[in-house]
Amino acid sequence: MRSAPAPDRSGPRASRLKVAVVGAGGIARGSHLPALQELAEEGEVEVVAAVDVDDDAVRRFCADGGIPHPYTDLQRMLDEQRPDLVTVCTPPTLHREQTVAALRAGAWVWCEKPPTPSLEEFDAIEAAEGAEGGPYAAIVFQHRFGSGARHVRELLAKGDVGRPLVAHCQTTWYRDTAYYSVPWRGRWATEGGGPAMGHGIHQMDLMLDILGPWSEVRAMAGRLVHDVETEDVSTALVRFESGAMATIVNSVLSPDEVSRIRIDCERATMELTHLYGYGNADWVVTPARDVPAELAASWQDFGTDVPSSHLAQLRELVASMRAGVRPRSSGADGRTSLELVSALYKSAFTDVTVRAGEIGPGDPYYTALHGGAPGWAPAEEASHG
Ligand SMILES: NC(=O)c1ccc[n+]([C@@H]2O[C@H](COP(=O)([O-])OP(=O)(O)OC[C@H]3O[C@@H](n4cnc5c(N)ncnc54)[C@H](O)[C@@H]3O)[C@@H](O)[C@H]2O)c1
Repeated sequence: MRSAPAPDRSGPRASRLKVAVVGAGGIARGSHLPALQELAEEGEVEVVAAVDVDDDAVRRFCADGGIPHPYTDLQRMLDEQRPDLVTVCTPPTLHREQTVAALRAGAWVWCEKPPTPSLEEFDAIEAAEGAEGGPYAAIVFQHRFGSGARHVRELLAKGDVGRPLVAHCQTTWYRDTAYYSVPWRGRWATEGGGPAMGHGIHQMDLMLDILGPWSEVRAMAGRLVHDVETEDVSTALVRFESGAMATIVNSVLSPDEVSRIRIDCERATMELTHLYGYGNADWVVTPARDVPAELAASWQDFGTDVPSSHLAQLRELVASMRAGVRPRSSGADGRTSLELVSALYKSAFTDVTVRAGEIGPGDPYYTALHGGAPGWAPAEEASHG
């Protein structure tokens, strides 16, 4: 049965936005629902429905969250509820199909990271967005939205701290054998990628958000501990268009777990150390020795503490919807870290330098992050060597 034509929901809007949550698992319960409830209390949104293939799970989710309409079928929910915004909280292999379905129904989308398992799938989402005024699909990259990141971006934009020169981007986490004994983990088809994709993408995305476009990457990947198809560690060297150079480490083999970004500029080092989220106090700005004390002191004022969180990003997304403008972390802006991850894998698996923009249609890394590389791709998909 064909669904009814999507209503025109582009342009400015005033009343409460009708929101539906797709996927009633861990991140929906732990982060989306609390953020939505906060905005519901402020009169911004109302959560009208949730969807999950697990009927019990979605009924429980709706009962606990005071959500009136549980569904097990996404298209049926879209047809009956006509939400303004759909938040996609399912595993990454479902993101393209569900996001495109919601966009076609006229809803804006807030889709969990990692965006999609390939650039080809991401581009299919972009192609389904509205032309002017939406609907648009934004990716959940909540670490861009804390006040610490905003302050650091402002210091760079003002030029006070000088040019960024050297950066470190570290996601050194620890995942044990029990974690990887769950069948869908560690496999390209179900998890989408290893720690570069699933764990490190947050830190890499934040680094790109602060430092701007990258130009080339050289990388290595290893499978040192776990019985997985994907890597369990990767390292990479990245050059930015600005000339800045970065090292990246994405690991699930590191007992002392930390997420860190350090940016050495001409006149200051700016460093963030946290694990899964940060506040202002997790940032340290260290001035160069010759910086006047008064100027250095002004750099320490991060303003009101807005921790990195789903709430911070959702608040901005809702404001973009009301204004009818493309939200941050959508379109080309939401694609940057997936392109870097794709290039990281291509470089690691083919032993070449990969330049920004080169992975497009016809490149095996455009359609699959493993690129068909022997020794990395599932045996039936290995295509060369
Ligand atoms: N932003 C973050 O910091 C963060 C943190 C954790 C997870 N995530 C991301 O959130 C997404 C979901 O992760 P999770 O940990 O909540 O997983 P989960 O397994 O806890 O939940 C996924 C839910 O999706 C449901 N589902 C499966 N197929 C479906 C379908 N076809 N239609 C509707 N529902 C379906 C499952 O039944 C399950 O309830 C992943 O992309 C993950 O990477 C993001």
